[in-house]
Amino acid sequence: MSHAEDTGSRRDFLYVATASAGAVATGAAVWPLVHQMNPSADVRAMASIEVDVADLEAGTQLTVKWRGKPVFVRRRTAEEIEAGRAQDVSALPDGEARNANADSEADASDANRTLDEAGEWLVMMGVCTHLGCVPLGDGAGDFGGWFCPCHGSHYDTAGRIRKGPAPENLPVPVASFISDTVIKLG
Ligand code: FES
Repeated sequence: MSHAEDTGSRRDFLYVATASAGAVATGAAVWPLVHQMNPSADVRAMASIEVDVADLEAGTQLTVKWRGKPVFVRRRTAEEIEAGRAQDVSALPDGEARNANADSEADASDANRTLDEAGEWLVMMGVCTHLGCVPLGDGAGDFGGWFCPCHGSHYDTAGRIRKGPAPENLPVPVASFISDTVIKLG
């Protein structure tokens, strides 16, 4: 073997050795990152929560925190349901259902906003669609639903914007009954 060939093969060997050391190092660096991107069991549990509504009387509501935001769960009275259903959809400032459980074309009729067919259960994000304040509930405002005191937005008994600067109805998140008395969010 000539001197030149010898040097060449040693360089190749060094190059290969360095390359594999590099590959190992990269593998080690990537692994924890992948782990971090994989949500832990705690985080996954937070992605959906179950709300026990067994003690909720008609005309009252619960506010639960979900994914860092308030969610209103209201059991509506017969009067609230009637007021919501009597409203002409074409006269609403926002004619869209804004309901993650309905299809995207659904209009803002009362029946397209509630969780059950009878319209007793209304679940909505408690975040004003104007600038994000938490509206007051329990029949507040000019339309017997919710009122955002920050800049005066009035929502009706179906959480639809009726008056004030808020541009959209309060959004209805993904929600469903998983038993007679438990609602799952997410
Ligand atoms: S944030 Fe609700 S009216 Fe402005």
